[in-house]
Amino acid sequence: MAGIIELENVSLSAQNRRVVKGVTHQFEEGKTTALVGPSGCGKSTLLKLSAGLLVPSGGEVRFRGKNISTMNRKENLAFRREGAVVFQDSALWANQSLFQMLELPLRIHFPGMSKAERERRIEEVTAEVGYRKELSIRPSLLSMGEQKLIAFARALVCRPSLLFLDEWTESLDDRAAQRLVSIVKRMKNAGATIIFVSHNIHLMLDMADYYLMILGGQLFLRLTKEQLEDEDLRRYIERGINA
Ligand SMILES: Nc1ncnc2c1ncn2[C@@H]1O[C@H](COP(=O)(O)OP(=O)(O)O)[C@@H](O)[C@H]1O
Ligand SMILES: [Mg+2]
Repeated sequence: MAGIIELENVSLSAQNRRVVKGVTHQFEEGKTTALVGPSGCGKSTLLKLSAGLLVPSGGEVRFRGKNISTMNRKENLAFRREGAVVFQDSALWANQSLFQMLELPLRIHFPGMSKAERERRIEEVTAEVGYRKELSIRPSLLSMGEQKLIAFARALVCRPSLLFLDEWTESLDDRAAQRLVSIVKRMKNAGATIIFVSHNIHLMLDMADYYLMILGGQLFLRLTKEQLEDEDLRRYIERGINA
């Protein structure tokens, strides 16, 4: 079966270094996949390649069979609307208010949506992630955790069915993290495809159907949930994550 996102021999070189080396993998639709591995092994880069945000130096990334690099504007918009990204560093725009930032994806993907409907959607999504302060401020006034909540709200505002999440619970307190985990679980149960990076072994065991261990930019090991239930393999993974 073809995956919703397919990586075929994908590499990325930056400043004369090969950060990702010949990764081939199909992300199955409706499944949750965790990318694990030590810091600097290339997880964020691989996630961005999978989300079409970086152009590979070699190989191909496909979304529903279409090479992302050669998509036309309409195909690209459809991909952007279906897939949403939460970046490791939140990546909010310093010169925009939180409201403007949440509104932009709606303006792009739902040009016919009324202002009142946009406001309603933004209110709904901020309540869902548990952000309670005003939206007229800029991101520099927020804590790292609050920035993550807004980054999450921005990703959810167009109701995606494909999520790319990079270390998405790491800067949050337990309660906030739990809230986001329940949102993602609900989406997973409704059939969404989730691809996430995390160092939290409990989160992986709880949520992921597949585990990809990345070492030195290469896909080192691919495991299913059932395989990870094996004690020895799990210890191996834990050592890899904490290496
Ligand atoms: N554009 C780039 N230019 C140079 N080096 C990069 C670039 N992007 C990533 N790297 C390097 O590649 C390695 C992998 O980065 P990253 O994907 O962020 O790792 P991880 O998310 O697993 O911690 C790091 O050593 C990082 O510094
Ligand atoms: Mg990273």
